[in-house]
Amino acid sequence: MRHLIDILDLSTEEIDELIVTAKDIIENPKKYSEACHGKKLATLFFEPSTRTRLSFEAAMYELGGNVISVSSAASSSASKGESVADTAKVVSCYADIIAMRHPKEGAPYVASMNASIPVINAGDGGHSHPTQTLADLLTICCEKGRLDNLTVGFCGDLKFGRTVHSLISAMSRYTNIKFVLVSPVELKVPSYVKKDIIQRKNIEYVQTTDLESVMPELDVLYMTRVQKERFFNEEDYLRLKDSYILTPEKLKNAKDDLIILHPLPRVNEIAVSIDDDPRACYFKQVYYAKIMRMSLILKCLGEER
Ligand code: CP
Repeated sequence: MRHLIDILDLSTEEIDELIVTAKDIIENPKKYSEACHGKKLATLFFEPSTRTRLSFEAAMYELGGNVISVSSAASSSASKGESVADTAKVVSCYADIIAMRHPKEGAPYVASMNASIPVINAGDGGHSHPTQTLADLLTICCEKGRLDNLTVGFCGDLKFGRTVHSLISAMSRYTNIKFVLVSPVELKVPSYVKKDIIQRKNIEYVQTTDLESVMPELDVLYMTRVQKERFFNEEDYLRLKDSYILTPEKLKNAKDDLIILHPLPRVNEIAVSIDDDPRACYFKQVYYAKIMRMSLILKCLGEER
């Protein structure tokens, strides 16, 4: 049985295979339309989501399978005190695979230790969001044509941004990658990401608070939201929330073939006027995410065609 809790649970060869399957799904969707016939996905979301939950569900339907769902902690027996372990054991009796989002770091891991079916981490607190990372990798691969020889800029909340931590982890395994880390001092990447991943692998990186000064270097710009829900006091959130707002003016020195990504939801960190710029790829990223989740469900259920 195969779980996906952290992006490093997958080898680069397995990620390559997932990308190959994803590209085949894009080319030949009919070939996969009954691939999960008779199978059920349980989406257990104890924290709000639009994209991740709906794209998992759309992915399963497009594979010919079915979906059962918990869409909030309040609507489940978690609100009565049921443990993650018990929930995982119970849902294993109803479904063939679980996608779980939880505000507590490690909750999907606990679920995987107690479930008798595969568990996919759909985001756990400020820790990790491996399926967003797979979507990001597919987007970069399709839009840039490669996953190596890239300068990747991350901008915004790099401290609590689980999508940032997972993507740095994943990209650090490719060749000739440089990271440009742009954040307010208070929202720098955690030291475990800097020391255990970037520095341990001798990856070139710069840390700065100034986005415009590094803009000309970037092949990929990964914008992120300052996440209100991760702050302990509102004062800090209000002080930091508008630290970076990407506008057409700030892109004037960017490369013509830059791609701009954002895991979404966006609040105001990318001006709406950028949406029509050909370099804006964040809505394409949403499409690639559904395709990648189809590829992943097939892999976890062992039904690759
Ligand atoms: N990118 C992402 O995880 O979006 P949702 O929170 O809407 O699922």
